[in-house]
Amino acid sequence: MKLWGGRFEKSTDKSVDDFNSSIRFDSRMYKQDILGSIAHAKMLGKCNIIPEEDSILIQNTLKEILNDIEEGKVEFEIDAEDIHMNIEKILISRIGDVGKRLHTGRSRNDQVALDIRMYLRDEIIEIKNMIVALEKTLIDIAKENLDTILPGYTHLQRAQPITFAHHMMAYFQMFKRDIERLNDCYKRINIMPLGSGALASTTYPLDRYMVAKELGFDEITENSLDAVGDRDFAIELTSCLSLLMMHLSRFSEEIILWSSHEFSFIELDDAYSTGSSIMPQKKNPDVAELVRGKTGRVYGSLMTLLTVMKSLPLAYNKDMQEDKEAVFDAVDTVKMCLPVFTKMIETMKVKKDEMYKAAQGGFTNATDMADYLVKKGIPFRSAHEIIGKMVLYCIENNKAIDELNISEFKSFHENIEEDVYEEISLSKCVSGRNLPGGPAKESVMKAIENGMKFLSEI
Ligand code: ARG
Repeated sequence: MKLWGGRFEKSTDKSVDDFNSSIRFDSRMYKQDILGSIAHAKMLGKCNIIPEEDSILIQNTLKEILNDIEEGKVEFEIDAEDIHMNIEKILISRIGDVGKRLHTGRSRNDQVALDIRMYLRDEIIEIKNMIVALEKTLIDIAKENLDTILPGYTHLQRAQPITFAHHMMAYFQMFKRDIERLNDCYKRINIMPLGSGALASTTYPLDRYMVAKELGFDEITENSLDAVGDRDFAIELTSCLSLLMMHLSRFSEEIILWSSHEFSFIELDDAYSTGSSIMPQKKNPDVAELVRGKTGRVYGSLMTLLTVMKSLPLAYNKDMQEDKEAVFDAVDTVKMCLPVFTKMIETMKVKKDEMYKAAQGGFTNATDMADYLVKKGIPFRSAHEIIGKMVLYCIENNKAIDELNISEFKSFHENIEEDVYEEISLSKCVSGRNLPGGPAKESVMKAIENGMKFLSEI
């Protein structure tokens, strides 16, 4: 018999039980469901809505059930539909009529809203810790590479020299924003919906603030219809996770490029790469590729959630049961990607010489050469044109700019003198860019210091 079976004359068709049931995927919220029920039962007793001794028996039995689940002693049933009814059924099977008092003043609609909020709260904290570990690794790599020069790119064309530290700290900023977004999202998740009932709250004098306090919520929801009909928080979280994955995916793309023979800027550790079943020479960046690929899954979850919610009339509709697989998959995917990605970059070998060679090769000091002429009194636009011609000459003669001899230099402009070699050296190109936010060592060291301060204050 179903817990809601009273008004039914026939039992549910087996196919409907299977179709309707969410226990396959919502059983993972067993702990949140039980802790929520314990707080609810405690409050019902305290407010004299149910007898105090019943409240205590319910609470103690729920604790036993939690223990038994954790020890693997409990099997959930498909025809008990979801985690909420499974646990209530087990409770009633253990303490009979007393257990039947638990659901007083509550609906599965506010119960499920509570459980997801509690579940996602915990997940956000775990994900944040994983991002912090990644951020620390980025800082470690940056500290090792304050003087490692490589070309910075625009349009994937070598542009100006930067340092690998600066490049790593660019990603630090992206993941910092991801942490900030998760913090903000957490605030909107940490609001307690119980007391909203099915849709119109309840006539029982529940103490909603007590339940909120028991369960560590900052606030209570302010509209019962909204509280049971809202999944914005799950969408918001999945959107934060999509941005996070977008950052990981861009980083993965660079790792893949850098580890190619064509770039050869890094070598992945054997433990974080894979081979080919046919080509013996291959060492593939599968981890980075999978992270890039899994980004699509998380975006897919975001689209699922937005689409599930887009036409639902207020308040709860069963469509909303579809929220869980999507948001859980997004959370699981991110939690799978972050630690292995962090390990992969922590163990990769940075090929400093190759990076330097690439920076030397691509006329990355052409802007500095133009700036040199500006310092000698030539307007920037004219300098730009002269250096454009100089680059063309270099290409034709297979030389880097700093490989021109002084008479070649002078053929482009008589103001060019011996000091040019020093002025357009790669190290000068980098060290000269010492504005806040620039790639010069002192600027990056400041960024690292700020970054460490941010991490210590989370
Ligand atoms: N399993 C349901 C869900 O995840 C719980 C709420 C069901 N409420 C209802 N009135 N059928 O959405």
